[in-house]
Amino acid sequence: SLPVPSVQEIVRNDAQNIPERYVKNLEDRSKSSDICPVSNDIPIIDVFLLANGDEDERQKLDIACQEWGFFQIVNHGADDALKKMKAAEADFFDLPLSDKMKYAMASNDVEGYGQGYVVSEDQKLDWNDLLFLITSPSSSRNIKYWPLIIPGFKEAIDEYAIEIERVRDEILRNLSLLMGEKEDFLKQLHGDVKQGMRMNYYPSCARPDLVLGVSPHSDCTSITLLLQDDHLTALQIKHEGLWVPVNPIPNAIVVNIGDVLEAWSNGKYKSIEHRAVTNVEKPRISAATFVIPGNEVELNPLETMLDDDDRPAIFKNGVKYIDYLRYTLAKKMEGKLANIEY
Ligand code: SIN
Ligand code: FE2
Repeated sequence: SLPVPSVQEIVRNDAQNIPERYVKNLEDRSKSSDICPVSNDIPIIDVFLLANGDEDERQKLDIACQEWGFFQIVNHGADDALKKMKAAEADFFDLPLSDKMKYAMASNDVEGYGQGYVVSEDQKLDWNDLLFLITSPSSSRNIKYWPLIIPGFKEAIDEYAIEIERVRDEILRNLSLLMGEKEDFLKQLHGDVKQGMRMNYYPSCARPDLVLGVSPHSDCTSITLLLQDDHLTALQIKHEGLWVPVNPIPNAIVVNIGDVLEAWSNGKYKSIEHRAVTNVEKPRISAATFVIPGNEVELNPLETMLDDDDRPAIFKNGVKYIDYLRYTLAKKMEGKLANIEY
């Protein structure tokens, strides 16, 4: 990453003027004609029912992954952990810049405090500051990037990570069954699974029509679990050619299918393009947990998913996660997609 200024600081110094580097080209801006004109909410899945083996709920999950690639989960039992996590994240972005800079992303790194993947001076930037941390396994943690000066920060992440892993495993267990496998199949398939967390800060913006909080992308994950603001609507997902806003449900977690699960399911489950817009009123924070398989894990479709319909394989056989990641990074660096995200 190249060092670029913090958007939070830009707004603090001058909230009215939008620097040229953040003004998207006309074709990349959010236009009202591209937004789904009717209210169309993504499916809601009850984790308590899933955990109790409720067959109807499992079928709802199947439809959600096929038709939307996105859903919100409720009754997940993680309310306390989630509130502490949000508070810890807010505390971080409230630190003075000089304190946050102690955790600044090194130029050859993706972890730490900074901005999304910045590859050139003339690249358009997103209206977003972030703190990215690998959270598990703990041996993969890079503690120099952890703001341990915030009381309770580490505890909040630890507690949240435990809850998220429980919820993640419940979803993977149900998806395994839906894909015709034994219940622990997908969990095992991840190999040396890693989790990373991208904590996002989107300052308010005087001209949301000119900028994007996060440019359109799909996730390089198996699944992503997103904590978002309880009231501000900002996340939008591509559905039937239009952008559908994801209206927050307080205390829910937004879950989406990433490229890896799309490949494993042989395209049955969809890794959907999404983006975040900004608003004039208030800053917004969110935190995405990325579930990432081991580097050597292959993206071949599961055998149980092969004879379903006539879907073409997404990758040729034998492509490893790390190869796919390098390829995706290189493609994004050609400048078509400004933003890289796990
Ligand atoms: C968000 O902040 O709502 C979305 C972030 C992302 O998924 O890229
Ligand atoms: Fe994303």
